[in-house]
Amino acid sequence: MKKTPDEEDQRVIWSPQPKQAEFMRRTEYEALYGGAAGGGKSDALLIEALRQVDIPHYRAILFRKTYEQLSELIDRSQTLYSLAFPKAKYNDGKHMWRFPSGAKIFFGNMQYAKDRTNYQGKRYDFIGFDELTHFTWEEYSYMFSRNRPSRHPRSSKKTICYMRGATNPGGVGHGWVKERFIAPAEPGTTISEELTIRDPDGKPISIVRDRVFIQASVFDNKALLDEDPEYLGSLALLPEKERKALLEGDWDSYEGQYFKEFRAAPDLNAAREHGCTESAEELLRQRRWVHVIDPIDLTHGEARNWTIYRSYDFGYARPFSCAWWAVDFDGTLYRILEMYGCTKVPNEGLKWTPEQQFKEIARVEREHPWLRGKEILGVADPSIWDKSRGESIAETAAKWRVYFTPGDNERIPGWMQCHYRLQFDEHGFPRMYVFKGCDAFIRTIPLMMYSTAKPEDLDTTQEDHAADDWRYMCMARPIAPLRPPAQKELQFINDPLNQLKGRNDRWTNSR
Ligand SMILES: Nc1ncnc2c1ncn2[C@@H]1O[C@H](COP(=O)(O)OP(=O)(O)OP(=O)(O)O)[C@@H](O)[C@H]1O
Ligand SMILES: [Mg+2]
Repeated sequence: MKKTPDEEDQRVIWSPQPKQAEFMRRTEYEALYGGAAGGGKSDALLIEALRQVDIPHYRAILFRKTYEQLSELIDRSQTLYSLAFPKAKYNDGKHMWRFPSGAKIFFGNMQYAKDRTNYQGKRYDFIGFDELTHFTWEEYSYMFSRNRPSRHPRSSKKTICYMRGATNPGGVGHGWVKERFIAPAEPGTTISEELTIRDPDGKPISIVRDRVFIQASVFDNKALLDEDPEYLGSLALLPEKERKALLEGDWDSYEGQYFKEFRAAPDLNAAREHGCTESAEELLRQRRWVHVIDPIDLTHGEARNWTIYRSYDFGYARPFSCAWWAVDFDGTLYRILEMYGCTKVPNEGLKWTPEQQFKEIARVEREHPWLRGKEILGVADPSIWDKSRGESIAETAAKWRVYFTPGDNERIPGWMQCHYRLQFDEHGFPRMYVFKGCDAFIRTIPLMMYSTAKPEDLDTTQEDHAADDWRYMCMARPIAPLRPPAQKELQFINDPLNQLKGRNDRWTNSR
């Protein structure tokens, strides 16, 4: 029997799968739907944006990093939105859906941090980020200020303001996303943060903001698996790290990590491969197959005479990073202490003036038993000698008797030196260690990712300040690699020698 138009309207266009429903049920201010590829994340985000489209003054925006990536999301919205709201219209020029009520859903990109300003003065009730780990913290957090409701003079309806994200692990934002959503609690648990702001009279007002992480798995997306049973097989074929990230939603292993070899705990797999049977505790005691170790007392024995260095990367709005290093008689480096100018927010600087920073550095060097009375060799970011804005930062430092020589800022050779330092010899001894307590280094080094623009380099939009001070230090005491990196076999898709075969017998015969 033919359906009436009304019955036709009752068709189910889309219904959430159980995990999507869990994500869409959450009432926290921020929720992130993340984990494995193909979990139905982008669909959930697109549908979530529709929740308030019956309110005329509702405004939503969905972000992807680049416009090309956004077009995938827009294409899917063409299917879902026009089925759900046949009268809704998409405006290509404005990248905007207009719904019969007057509500609008925009699509936006933020390829560069400066693109944030495109959203200045705008406001949105709902803000969604697809592939959140492609964004930096600055880009994401800027949008908090754009997330506010508006009243309409002719409407009594009120909108609800909130933010949603969806993502796979990996990408430049992997570090802050992991710290904000994944590390603090088990998936599905509300993470509450109390923030204090001051009213104009200076009275503190405390605000609690909640957020939550919902773990997606490709197995949650039955629709996809039914439609494309081969998809699991395609994921299984990926290289190990990428597979763990994309199939299992593992946040600890991902492609693009720059210092994969850094070990905060003994690497038992490598140790076993080299025939070591010791426990992790024993390896830590022996300082083998590990970089982070218990501090050595530098006031006793021969360690009293080790050379001390200070490495420094300037920062104001971003953290500054100052580290002290000891060099033993074999030339091994120890990162012994650090002073890192960061607020509780990742990559946000304390905004201490150079004066404040060097006063504090000088105080530590006067008072700390490992540093007191020592001659300290300083090495720093060469840009601190810049005099274009008056007194250089290096001159300010000198006033506090904190002296530096300019660090070698050749980036790629510098990073190679960092890699050489981390290499383990066949017994599991590296040529640098980090004392427990150097928390900024231990936290940020595993987060460093390759640059997509300059493949050999590290992505500079991340929290790379401890990495930079470490690089200046390594360049001050350069070393040779332990062994040449394993040579990969040349694999030409069109092997030039094959191309010549048969065509130039004289040349091939002469080989
Ligand atoms: N509730 C649903 N009903 C029907 N199909 C769905 C549903 N959720 C997702 N799908 C389909 O599954 C496929 C994958 O979903 P989606 O693109 O949302 O996954 P994803 O987690 O964003 O994947 P990726 O990690 O690749 O970005 C899409 O083609 C989508 O149409
Ligand atoms: Mg997606």
